[in-house]
Amino acid sequence: MSLEGKVAIVTGSSRGIGRGMAIALAQAGANVVVVGRTENSEKSRIPGTIHETVEEIKALRAGKAIAVRCDVTKPDEVEALMKQALDAFGRIDVLINNAGGSSTPSTIMDTPVYRWLNVMNLNINGVFLCCKLALPHMIKQQAGSIINVSSGAAVSTSPQMAAYNTSKAALERLSLVLAEEVRSHNISVVAYRPGRVRSQGAEYVFAKDFDWTGWDDIHACGPSTVWLAQQTAKTFTGQVVDRGGFGKTWGPKG
Ligand SMILES: NC(=O)c1ccc[n+]([C@@H]2O[C@H](COP(=O)([O-])OP(=O)(O)OC[C@H]3O[C@@H](n4cnc5c(N)ncnc54)[C@H](OP(=O)(O)O)[C@@H]3O)[C@@H](O)[C@H]2O)c1
Repeated sequence: MSLEGKVAIVTGSSRGIGRGMAIALAQAGANVVVVGRTENSEKSRIPGTIHETVEEIKALRAGKAIAVRCDVTKPDEVEALMKQALDAFGRIDVLINNAGGSSTPSTIMDTPVYRWLNVMNLNINGVFLCCKLALPHMIKQQAGSIINVSSGAAVSTSPQMAAYNTSKAALERLSLVLAEEVRSHNISVVAYRPGRVRSQGAEYVFAKDFDWTGWDDIHACGPSTVWLAQQTAKTFTGQVVDRGGFGKTWGPKG
């Protein structure tokens, strides 16, 4: 149980990659704060609620978990999230900024301003806010790990994806700058590209007859996430990592 006694916040863990990460962290012994906006599946177009993730963790008899409803783009809600995490578990060791998403593909000229702003708000501003409000607690502890979930899109020039690609490129830069800013406090910061994962969000976006060959399930990011969650600035920081390279180009030495 390598994360025994540690407390991890996972944004966007009502479903998809975030749910897989939350479960893996709990199985490694962490107490997990499951974060998202969906509390009731009947009110959502996409399956998955924060309470279902907590129930799944409880059923596995893994670490403890609580559900916190929070929109990561809202400063007052993120502030309340940190307070609830501290009230429940007394510390914050790991922050996974996984909540993220895209919008309907469109050229820059055809992208309505509100859609551009929505993607930036979620993928960049939400991450900035969660980092800003979790860091004072990690600094107090002089240790911590922040994992910002990026994408190969950060280096893609595919047309009609400018908002998503740009937001993930910016997220990677934010991660690298932050890593330098908090290095002296022994806090690790990385940007993590999960590769292709058949999440509930992906299933919702792609056509019913989409060919999922080569896509992994939501638990595929578990081992690499648990390893990253154990890192501090003394051991591993300031990197952009691909899940596919875990154990090969980065991660535990064989
Ligand atoms: N799937 C892939 O192949 C893939 C590849 C590369 C990168 N990624 C990245 O991996 C991350 C997760 O993707 P996914 O495929 O697992 O997506 P998903 O199934 O659509 O899940 C997205 C999660 O983000 C949460 N979320 C969205 N907006 C939020 C907000 N304003 N506040 C709080 N939570 C919010 C959603 O919860 P609520 O709706 O309940 O709020 C949900 O839990 C994203 O950052 C994505 O860009 C995914």
